[in-house]
Amino acid sequence: MASHIKIFDTTLRDGEQSPGCSMNLQEKLQVAKQLERLKVDVIEAGFAIASPGDFAAVQAVAQAVKNCRVASLARALPEDIDRAYEAVKYAEAPRIHTFIATSDIHMKYKLKASKEEVLERAVSMVKYAKKYCSDIEFSAEDASRSEVAFLYEIFEAVIKAGATVINIPDTVGYTTPDEFYNLILNIKNNVPNIDLAEISVHCHNDLGLAVANTVAAAKAGATQLECTINGIGERAGNAALEEIVMALNTRKDVYGFTTGIETTEIYPASRLVSKLTGMRIQHNKAIVGDNAFAHESGIHQHGVLAHKSTYEIMTPESVGLTKNKLILGKHSGRHAFEERLKSLGYHLSKEELNKTFQEFKNLADKKKVVYDKDLEALVEEKSVNTKE
Ligand code: KIV
Ligand code: ZN
Repeated sequence: MASHIKIFDTTLRDGEQSPGCSMNLQEKLQVAKQLERLKVDVIEAGFAIASPGDFAAVQAVAQAVKNCRVASLARALPEDIDRAYEAVKYAEAPRIHTFIATSDIHMKYKLKASKEEVLERAVSMVKYAKKYCSDIEFSAEDASRSEVAFLYEIFEAVIKAGATVINIPDTVGYTTPDEFYNLILNIKNNVPNIDLAEISVHCHNDLGLAVANTVAAAKAGATQLECTINGIGERAGNAALEEIVMALNTRKDVYGFTTGIETTEIYPASRLVSKLTGMRIQHNKAIVGDNAFAHESGIHQHGVLAHKSTYEIMTPESVGLTKNKLILGKHSGRHAFEERLKSLGYHLSKEELNKTFQEFKNLADKKKVVYDKDLEALVEEKSVNTKE
């Protein structure tokens, strides 16, 4: 039986940290409601101490969302944890997500703290958060560049202190799928009380490997995957929710996991986040890009018209699109051309079709895409109109 993977969405926290992506309270509520329709397991609603606006947004999301856990981020500091709880306490299932950096680089230059101090702060802040709420996530920031023995030590200690989720972030998108797979496996095998906590991963996309690293970690035993809609996030972004979910769905034979995601809500979620953040989606973006289900070449169009599975590994309907798009351009073939004319209501004789197809090819050489209105003009203009 396929095992269940939880999806932790951080569009409203890490996604919003992306330059130019900030959203106001009403916009955040709209995204949260769409995430609920998408059926994510956890919504990270923000970083409550970051600003009064962030606090209000986390609080509003916690009050509005009924069917997902709601988390707020907090540094490993009492004032952050107080503020996080104050904001999430109205949620049906609140979570405090606290973090501290564990890599030598971060401890030396950012925290100016020793390993012992970091360990002590992590443990005492998990205990502190535990006073408020039973569900505590602990993240070892920059875990993928941290000394692995220190990770074992800190994870064992925070689980003892009450952490229910331990998160292993690839904060700067530095790891690779093989390396990350081994790291997760080693953590599973070397942290003695690991079975008392959920293993989570959180990958950034600086080398374009965020989704690959995330699914590799799932294969190694991570059961909570952190991600954002359209992969928005700091620098090159976070692992994209839609890509992780559809990779796991489409390749169940390889991964053997199910998620609770309502995949038909993926496309509406993607459009909403793009509209509200102003962050445009590249045309060839997997799953949600304009070209993800578009076919232009004649060979591909012919194949798809004969049977979709020739060039589509998932259906557009499964991600919330109504149908695939056959783009008419210079690479298109007669078959797609004739089908499109029929769908526009034109039934041409063989001779008329040959003539109009030739004219279409001449036009397509001059234009990137031939739209329906161009086809109509071609047919009407040549008085070969046999529209029914
Ligand atoms: O990238 C990161 O390390 C984070 C943590 C706060 C989880 O966003
Ligand atoms: Zn992050």
